[in-house]
Amino acid sequence: MYLHRKLVKKKANIMDFSEVLKHRVSIRDYQPTQVTRTLLTSVVADAQQAPSWANSQPWKVYIATGETMKKIQKSHLEKTRAGIKGNADLPVKDIHDWGNLPWSNMSEWLDKVGSDPTMTDFTAANGRLWNAPAMAYITIPKTAPVWSIYDAGSFAQTLMLSAASHGLDTMVAYENVKYADEIREFAGVPADELIVEGIAMGYRSDDKINDFKNARLATAKMLTIL
Ligand SMILES: Cc1cc2nc3c(=O)[nH]c(=O)nc-3n(C[C@H](O)[C@H](O)[C@H](O)COP(=O)(O)O)c2cc1C
Repeated sequence: MYLHRKLVKKKANIMDFSEVLKHRVSIRDYQPTQVTRTLLTSVVADAQQAPSWANSQPWKVYIATGETMKKIQKSHLEKTRAGIKGNADLPVKDIHDWGNLPWSNMSEWLDKVGSDPTMTDFTAANGRLWNAPAMAYITIPKTAPVWSIYDAGSFAQTLMLSAASHGLDTMVAYENVKYADEIREFAGVPADELIVEGIAMGYRSDDKINDFKNARLATAKMLTIL
């Protein structure tokens, strides 16, 4: 009986996790509702559980909220409208040179974005940084090895899953860090830190852009078990 209860509990936890996984999708438009400092702190504390090389924990996090977020969004929209070229800290390589598998997946996604009626506002949503009420910028020292970018990625995903488990939505995007200069100016990120990624956080609006349905490659097409 006890064992049975334990198994049922385990099953329930597994199901909870799959719900968390399903909840984490890219949300491209947010309600103005602010996220509490307690919740922001809690998801970052969860993300600190991510693994890192020799427990180096190379990451730091700067979260823009309220007026700071609005200043970044205003500057971002102005730069976007003026057609100013991005100056992200990580280089952006021509997407045709990423390899056959990612290119084939990306072209399918790009075709979908171009034709899906829920995504007609895609470019505008990027430009206004999703109307998000908060944005977490993840940095590592500029002197860090490439492995620290791997660590920062684990940190970012853990943060997003923790957020999802609290019903908090997220949006990880190149767009968020496209203008590193405005992030340094308004969020006070020091010059010796590399801005790896930005994760928007908040609560999804009922805008149709959030109805966009994504897909994944069939597992059998990318998995080899020997
Ligand atoms: C590093 C990175 C950069 C991304 N940049 C953008 C972006 O600039 N604009 C955008 O709309 N989506 C961006 N995305 C979101 C992806 O398009 C999205 O994660 C992917 O299509 C899978 O969809 P899902 O997040 O809803 O599961 C980015 C995602 C990652 C991980």
